[in-house]
Amino acid sequence: MTELVDSFRRTVKYMRVSLTDRCNLRCNYCMPAWGNHWMEKDTLLNYDELIRVIELAATRGVYKIRVTGGEPLVRKGCVDFIRRVGEVEGITEVAMTTNAILLKDHAQELYDAGLRHLNISLDSLNTEKFHEITRGNQLARVWEGIEEAVKVGFPSIKINAVAQKGVNDDEFVDFVNLTRDMRIDMRFIEFMPVSDWNNWQQKYISIDEIQNIIKEGVGELIPVYDGDAAAGPAENYRIPGYVGRVGFIHAISNHFCDTCNRIRLTADGKVRPCLFGKIEVDFREAMREGATNEELNELFDEVLQIKPDAHNITMASPEKMLTSMTAIGG
Ligand code: GTP
Ligand code: 5AD
Ligand code: SF4
Repeated sequence: MTELVDSFRRTVKYMRVSLTDRCNLRCNYCMPAWGNHWMEKDTLLNYDELIRVIELAATRGVYKIRVTGGEPLVRKGCVDFIRRVGEVEGITEVAMTTNAILLKDHAQELYDAGLRHLNISLDSLNTEKFHEITRGNQLARVWEGIEEAVKVGFPSIKINAVAQKGVNDDEFVDFVNLTRDMRIDMRFIEFMPVSDWNNWQQKYISIDEIQNIIKEGVGELIPVYDGDAAAGPAENYRIPGYVGRVGFIHAISNHFCDTCNRIRLTADGKVRPCLFGKIEVDFREAMREGATNEELNELFDEVLQIKPDAHNITMASPEKMLTSMTAIGG
């Protein structure tokens, strides 16, 4: 079977799979306080349908699956699904991105189901600020979830902080100092325009600025190269004497589209070739109308043909290109 190579000669090895658009937090940059117009239950792919798409992607060379949301752990059956993903022939890496609210209770069973790579969203280490950003007073639960994951022995734990000017820029050094004794990757993500489109330029801080703050507070950052074909977009560094690493995701200031290796399956069964833009191919309708594997493979070819070479968001972008992170899973 031919590999998933797009028209710009990039090979797709990594598929992000969103299990639900629902979430048990309401991060203010992600969704309104009242939530969203959630997807209807029967529009979501069931677990068998999700596995079918993953199996097909695996026959085309995808070997890494990242399970996302919304918050994936709010969907019943998530742990069992993780086990099934790991059993798909050709899938060698199963990962999850979670807000960790439900992690304490599920960390061990997720590990037992074969999960090894956990990315955890955490934008503040301060109780009140965490409450303000997420509209949920549950920092202690998140932290307990992280401690449990460390205890269980996940070999890869990454903490994601979306950098926001005037909100958490006074905590960058505290975040980095977590890596002194914890074997984690602390990653700083440039704020991308989502639902808070009108104000994003005010909140945005570039990775250059973030690195300057860190260098001033902590010292030297030494680049680390992993050379993993299915690695995400982070550029990683270490600090002498620290056991963990620090990563930077510069989605806006210096986009990494030329090395993009991923596609996304939304919870309602659309395959998206790019995080931004509205282009997607509907696998759900095709499957529910009885499409054969051969026909679904043709849909994958379509996804590759329409995969754009790059997003063109800049600080001055007037156009809304990404309206909901929860429906796509980041
Ligand atoms: P790893 O596999 O651990 O490297 O994961 P990752 O960094 O790709 O995934 P994660 O879910 O932790 O996402 C971290 C941040 O990177 C989120 O803000 C994502 O929205 C962003 N991100 C992930 N993939 C892309 C991408 O293809 N394009 C852009 N612009 N941002 C991305
Ligand atoms: N900009 C950058 N990252 C974002 N995420 C959610 N919304 C945004 C945004 N507007 C992050 C989450 C999570 C990951 C999947 O995407 O914090 O870590
Ligand atoms: Fe939930 Fe993630 Fe959106 Fe926060 S950013 S509301 S944790 S989906």
